[in-house]
Amino acid sequence: MRGPALSEVAAGDAPPRDLAGYATQLIRGRRATRAFRPTPVPEATLRAVFDLAAAAPSNSNAQPWQVEVVSGARRDALADALVDANRTGRMSVDFPYSEEIYTPVHQRRRAAFGAALYGALDIGLDDHDKRAAYDAESLRFYGAPHVAMLFAPDTAEARLAADVGMYGQTLLLALTAHGVASCPQGLLSFYADTVRDVLGIRGGKLLFGISFGYAVTDAPVNTIAAGREPLPTTTRFHR
Ligand SMILES: Cc1cc2nc3c(=O)[nH]c(=O)nc-3n(C[C@H](O)[C@H](O)[C@H](O)COP(=O)(O)O)c2cc1C
Repeated sequence: MRGPALSEVAAGDAPPRDLAGYATQLIRGRRATRAFRPTPVPEATLRAVFDLAAAAPSNSNAQPWQVEVVSGARRDALADALVDANRTGRMSVDFPYSEEIYTPVHQRRRAAFGAALYGALDIGLDDHDKRAAYDAESLRFYGAPHVAMLFAPDTAEARLAADVGMYGQTLLLALTAHGVASCPQGLLSFYADTVRDVLGIRGGKLLFGISFGYAVTDAPVNTIAAGREPLPTTTRFHR
């Protein structure tokens, strides 16, 4: 059900609730979680979260996402199949990937994040074997009991993929609002054929997956805070 349109609040009126405060808690409270407890999320919470996520905006309201939520025995089978696909080098991507999509400034930010992540894991930055082993193990969804696979249509290019991205962030916030931790995982999209095989799906282009469940709160990897650039670096105000 749609709530009141908050955009209709007249300029200068106080918002009806402390929305800015809640939004700050929600948006800044979400973090990528990389160690989960096996406890499943109750069915009623799953329904509430995915119902809320579907309120995401999209070009012309086309809602071009197809979402496959995987739990239980199928989740275990998918994790095994992904680890096997990685071990045997069976990669398949629907959206081509190359390191060259990143400019030097992006690469610098990625390196800073990698240093924080592998530092928390006590893995040396040059220890490529350990890093590869950690990435391979992440195909078990960091231990999360659920994963949502986000597909775009076969016809998708940047505009439709952007809609699916909108859905992805809305889902992450809906999960956070219900006390459920999450990690978006682009790595899962490198095994798109495996995902389709295990789920019995034909078609669709896999953009990324979102692993979710309850966090292991004292895991060092869950304490890292990825910083953000100062506002003027990414945002200009024109008048
Ligand atoms: C589309 C997308 C793909 C991502 N892929 C991965 C991934 O494959 N593995 C992983 O551990 N984190 C992945 N992340 C999480 C990012 O590393 C994380 O969002 C970023 O470092 C900022 O940290 P924060 O989410 O805690 O604010 C991904 C995030 C997004 C949005």
